Amino acid sequence: MSTSISDPDHPELGDSDPGALVDPSQTVLSGRNLIKTYGRVIGLDGVNIDLFPGEVLAVIGDNGAGKSTLIKALTGALTPDSGQVFLDGREVHFRSPQDARAAGIETVYQTLAVAPALDISANMFLGRERRRPGVLGSVFRMLDKKGMKADAGRSMANLGIATVQNMDQAVETLSGGQRQAVAVARAATFASKFVVLDEPTAALGVKETRQVLNLISQIKERGLPVILISHNMPNVFEVADRIHIARLGGSAGVITPQSHTPTEAVAIMTGATTLQRG
Ligand SMILES: Nc1ncnc2c1ncn2[C@@H]1O[C@H](COP(=O)(O)OP(=O)(O)O)[C@@H](O)[C@H]1O
Ligand SMILES: [Mg+2]
Repeated sequence: MSTSISDPDHPELGDSDPGALVDPSQTVLSGRNLIKTYGRVIGLDGVNIDLFPGEVLAVIGDNGAGKSTLIKALTGALTPDSGQVFLDGREVHFRSPQDARAAGIETVYQTLAVAPALDISANMFLGRERRRPGVLGSVFRMLDKKGMKADAGRSMANLGIATVQNMDQAVETLSGGQRQAVAVARAATFASKFVVLDEPTAALGVKETRQVLNLISQIKERGLPVILISHNMPNVFEVADRIHIARLGGSAGVITPQSHTPTEAVAIMTGATTLQRG
């Protein structure tokens, strides 16, 4: 079932097939034969996917190709009808996104989940608030706001989000890009296995998009792999190591920015061209 690129235009690829399936013991995450149907609509049609240590894996595909469904099936937001998910070579059965978070996977879903009225550090620690040490925390249930703010500020600074001046600022007063940056920073701060970003730049301007792309590069520099779902070919070709092409609930193959041009990627994505199957 492997997809090989024996494209005569790209003889330099030789035998190195970026989509060749490997044993899940060699990957951070693997999905095998994932199937999900919504009534008569096929969301996932036996999809295989691998995420390797330290890489940025882009997932591209037309609207309705099954990108979000794939991500949800890998991160506990939905249970596939059948198929397997492996984390660090061991099969996992996430029943909720909280299960996946507990296992070290942070996902920024397409519908952005920030709490607009809360400030930046409260958003960073949403769902995992820290109590103050000693009886103040254990008996009086007091939150360690100072500590959380300091840590949130540090991780925002580490990630180079220099434009956020004040950690007390409510998230609703931030620009779209800054909100997205908070969501991505939160994911980067708490993930220990990998980060998933579903269309993180779809609603952003040029400058804000640049900020999120910088964040992705920094997450990668810290050694965490990233799955980036995106429509934006220039962005994908800039940051991705490999590109998984989703199509009609299935997979049209895996390419790299070196093996194919953005135009070729779009052609494969739309079905105008097919990758040779070996
Ligand atoms: N909750 C749902 N109920 C019914 N159909 C759905 C649901 N979620 C997704 N689908 C369908 O599954 C297919 C894949 O959707 P999706 O994964 O959201 O695609 P993408 O993220 O690539 O745009 C589409 O045909 C979509 O309409
Ligand atoms: Mg989607």
